[in-house]
Order: sequence, then structure tokens, then C-alpha cells
Amino acid sequence: MDDLKAKYLGQIAGAADEAALEDIRLAAVGKKGEVALKMRELGRMTPEERQTVGPALNALKDEINSAIAAKKAALGDAALDERLRSEWLDVTLPTRATRQGTIHPVSQVTEEVTAIFAELGFSVAEGPRIDTDWYNFDALNIPGHHPARAEMDTFYMARAEGDDRPPHVLRTHTSPVQIRTMEAEGAPLRIICPGGVYRADYDQTHTPMFHQIEGLAIDRDIHLGHLKWTLETFLKAFFERDDIVLRLRPSYFPFTEPSVEVDVGYSNEGGRRVVGGHGDAEGHAWMELLGSGMVNPRVIAAAGLDPNEWQGFAFGCGIDRLAMLKYGMNDLRAFFDGDARWLSHYGFSPFDQPTLSGGVGARA
Ligand code: PHE
Repeated sequence: MDDLKAKYLGQIAGAADEAALEDIRLAAVGKKGEVALKMRELGRMTPEERQTVGPALNALKDEINSAIAAKKAALGDAALDERLRSEWLDVTLPTRATRQGTIHPVSQVTEEVTAIFAELGFSVAEGPRIDTDWYNFDALNIPGHHPARAEMDTFYMARAEGDDRPPHVLRTHTSPVQIRTMEAEGAPLRIICPGGVYRADYDQTHTPMFHQIEGLAIDRDIHLGHLKWTLETFLKAFFERDDIVLRLRPSYFPFTEPSVEVDVGYSNEGGRRVVGGHGDAEGHAWMELLGSGMVNPRVIAAAGLDPNEWQGFAFGCGIDRLAMLKYGMNDLRAFFDGDARWLSHYGFSPFDQPTLSGGVGARA
């Protein structure tokens, strides 16, 4: 029995893995193992012999089983140690540089303008960038022969032969959203409509795609004074100065009557246009900023409202233009080049979100 014990404990100590341990277990204490065979011999023994050999065999069986269990645990520990030795990570290495993205000035300024108008009770309305010529032109009192239609250098969507749906265009302005929202929501209404617009134009201050923000207030008693106050309040908040002076000039848009072009006074400081001050003051001039007017009754009727009951003001302003003025870029084309250097210079941190209490667009 001592031989058996020495043999199996030796084998267990030398087992290389769990499979080898299992083979040893079957050979030693399995049903047909050596210890079991010895147990069977007990029947041929005298009762005295049985009394000593029986317990001794049981003790041997226990000893072998616990040696196997201990060896199994030891093999597991060794495997873990080996993994810990081979799979390691040097957390003291410097990280790889990743470039942090920035918010595009168009997105930033859209947020700023939206925040200001939200405070004034305007909600945001949106419309499709591909629209019918009805929404983009006719409903806005720009009929087919109208010169404004040519002036807008419209992109028309191609049509397959035999496709006789009404012509679709890339919208040339955000004004069609006025019509769509009046149709959908009725009156009274106070909305701003930011978004991309398209015209076949390309130079330092014109790109085929640019962005506008449209404003529309419809109610029973809206007049030009409301328009002026709203624009003045907006521009003061946006440019973060109190000395914004507006000049309203008679103008013409098919969709407003009367129409007013809005100029702001500015001065040149270090080669940069800085909005503020009276345009006729020393060192100042006027700059055209946006188009506006009282909504033409024909437009109100085209949108399904009664022009004898409802009236309102509307304005349209270039978002990119506002961004250039406020943040000092001088070439609109750069807005659409996707140049990472330009963006890292003019882009905004995601944390620069405008809040009215903190000063709109205030930067450190
Ligand atoms: N839609 C005009 C444009 O794109 C701007 C505008 C909007 C003018 C609303 C008056 C009223 O030039």
C-alpha cells in the first residue's frame, strides 16, 4: 500500500496538465482503478485483516483525491501566472495624439441665433431643401415670368422624359418654409427657419450653397415697428453690443409689401468690419445686412389664411454672413472647403454653447 501511495503521489506531483491528472485519477481511484481492485480483495481477508486494511485503503483513496484536487488548483494558478506574465500593458506609455473636432461656425451661429429668438418666443420650423417651384416661387408671389426668378440663379432638378410632376428646385431661400408652416400650423405664428439654400453663384462672398435664417411673425396686429424692434433686439444680443444702429431702406421683394432692406452702421478696425455705431458717424458706414418687410397679403392667402384677418412681418438673413461679421472671416468659400486648419482656427469648442444669461456666444 505504501508503494501504491508513493507511485500515485509521485505521478500527481509530476502531472503536466489537467488531462494527465484525470488519467491518473482513473488509474488510481476510478471504478476499475488499482485502489478499487484492492478493495475487492478485502472479501478474501480475515475479519482482523479487513479491519486494518479497509480503513487504510479508504484513507489512501482520500489522500489521492485531495492530492489531485490540490495539484489541479496549483496548475490553475500556474496558468494564470503565465497569462499575467505574457499579457501585459505598459500604462505609462504616452497615448497616441487624436485630433479633437470643433463646431463649425455655421452650426455655432445657428445655435446663437436660435437661442436669442427662442427667448423672444419664436420656435424653429424646418422644411425640405428640395422643394416644388410652387413653394419656392409661386406661393411667394414670384410667378413664372418674374425677373426675380432668373435673378435667383435657380438649380432645377433633372426630370426624366415623360415625368410630368411639377418642377422641383433646390430651394433658393428659406422663405418656402413660411408657406409650409402657415399651412400646417395656421395663425398666430412666430417662427424662425434656419437652413441651407442654393444658388448658382461663386465668388468671395457667394457660394452655391449657403445658409439663411428666415423669421416670420403672423398675428392680427403686427406692424413695421414690431419688425424693427425685433431685429434691433436680436442684433444687439447677437453682436453683444448696445450701440447697434439700424437703417431701414425701402426696397422690393415680391413676398413683402412694403419691403425694407436693413442696414447696420459699422466701422473698420484693423482691416476688419466691426458692427456698431451710426453709419453716418465719423469713420463709419452703412452695410446691407438683411431683407425684410410686411408679408404680402397674396402670400398669406396662398398659405390658406385670410389676409383681412392676419398680417405679419418676415425677414431673411444669411447665417454665414452673420458668422463672417461676428467672427471676422473674409472669404465665404472657406466655410465649405472642409479645411481642418481653418476649422481648428475658427471652429468652436462643444462647450461654447450660447446661453443668454452668459452672453450669447461669449468666448474666453
Ligand atoms: N428671401 C429673401 C432672400 O433670399 C430674403 C427675405 C426674406 C426678404 C423674408 C424679405 C422677407 O433674399
